[in-house]
Amino acid sequence: MSTQSKTIPPKIIMVTGGACFIGSHVVRLLVNKYPGYHIVNLDALTYAGNMANLKDVGKAPNYTFEKGDITDEARIRELFEQYHFDAVIHLAAESHVDRSIMDPLAFVKTNVLGTAILLHAAHAAWKKDPAGKLFYHVSTDEVYGSLGKEGFFTEETPYDPRSPYSASKASSDHFVMAWYHTYGMPVILSNCSNNYGSNHFPEKLIPLMINNILHHKPLPVYGKGENVRDWLFVEDHARAIDTIFHHGKTGEKYNIGGFNEWKNIDIVNLLCGIMDKKLGRTPGESAQLITYVKDRPGHDLRYAIDATKLNKELGWKPSLQFEEGLEKTVDWYLANQDWVKAVTSGDYQNYYAEQYVKR
Ligand code: NAD
Ligand code: TYD
Repeated sequence: MSTQSKTIPPKIIMVTGGACFIGSHVVRLLVNKYPGYHIVNLDALTYAGNMANLKDVGKAPNYTFEKGDITDEARIRELFEQYHFDAVIHLAAESHVDRSIMDPLAFVKTNVLGTAILLHAAHAAWKKDPAGKLFYHVSTDEVYGSLGKEGFFTEETPYDPRSPYSASKASSDHFVMAWYHTYGMPVILSNCSNNYGSNHFPEKLIPLMINNILHHKPLPVYGKGENVRDWLFVEDHARAIDTIFHHGKTGEKYNIGGFNEWKNIDIVNLLCGIMDKKLGRTPGESAQLITYVKDRPGHDLRYAIDATKLNKELGWKPSLQFEEGLEKTVDWYLANQDWVKAVTSGDYQNYYAEQYVKR
């Protein structure tokens, strides 16, 4: 099948996982920017999904929420029959590496089986008339594995996933391409680096550190804190998805990254400095909370994305410098403590004890 530009923008879009960190930013952008589209947000509302993330667009006339699980094949088929989707933007996933080490099969179920079920339903619905349809799969740079000190992940880098999370996402990417090659399904994939910003569940590095700094709790840095990630502001990721969705070529994949590599320990120190100022603490006070803890098993050393293709072909580039984005993020967490309290009660406490306290 040859690649082709999509010229007719789809109108009824299912966004899976729209209640999550990245998904909520994608839904907000689409609902506000395209009043002519109807956005149907399908989300199971696991611990990571939160209706409060979308309270500003919840009543918009072009937005509908459907609670449902992507592994429920009958439900997915019914939704395709009910809404006649023109497109799917698929974000629903189990996404935290540490949880994938504790409970790998949950990742296989949602990320692998769930993606295959969506593809199967989309193919059944679209096979007679695939024109103008699109299955957009949102994936991660972690599928490429771990870099040494040099080099970047390009779209041609062979997959080499090393955690149950990245293996499940790599598998889902392969299923998406299998549907493209075997059934001619119109698909696009993007693989993005680490995101940060508002509404980020505080199990991931940046929001966890912000929350712990605020509450004078130890800041658990894995290993020596030398691992490197490439950080992108979440709203820039949402803009990239919008760009690729509308202007990308079917059958192709696009890397999305921030050109913004940081060692974990440097980020933690940066956050400590920002928060000392904002909280009126003496310089260096929060950094005393830094605690080196046992390393993550199979901890990938370095991720770094080469996003040249997306920049050259579709004109996207990140909008924010990291320091500016981190300030905005810290401000959001300080102003939204009710949100943090709600998501860190209950199950979060059990997870935290299992991951950090009992080890
Ligand atoms: P998240 O963990 O914050 O949220 C996942 C969402 O999926 C939640 O709303 C949850 O309720 C929903 N969900 C989980 N299982 C489901 C199921 N079986 N059926 C329906 N909904 C279900 O996710 P995130 O970090 O915002 O990531 C979103 C997507 O982006 C994922 O596919 C992830 O792999 C990808 N991604 C994330 C990052 C990152 O830095 N967070 C980077 C690159 C790519
Ligand atoms: P994380 O936010 O979980 O994203 P990912 O593992 O998908 O890149 O972790 C980012 C980096 O921070 C990673 O190298 C692991 C490290 N880390 C810590 O040092 N301490 C923590 O408590 C967490 C959650 C992560």
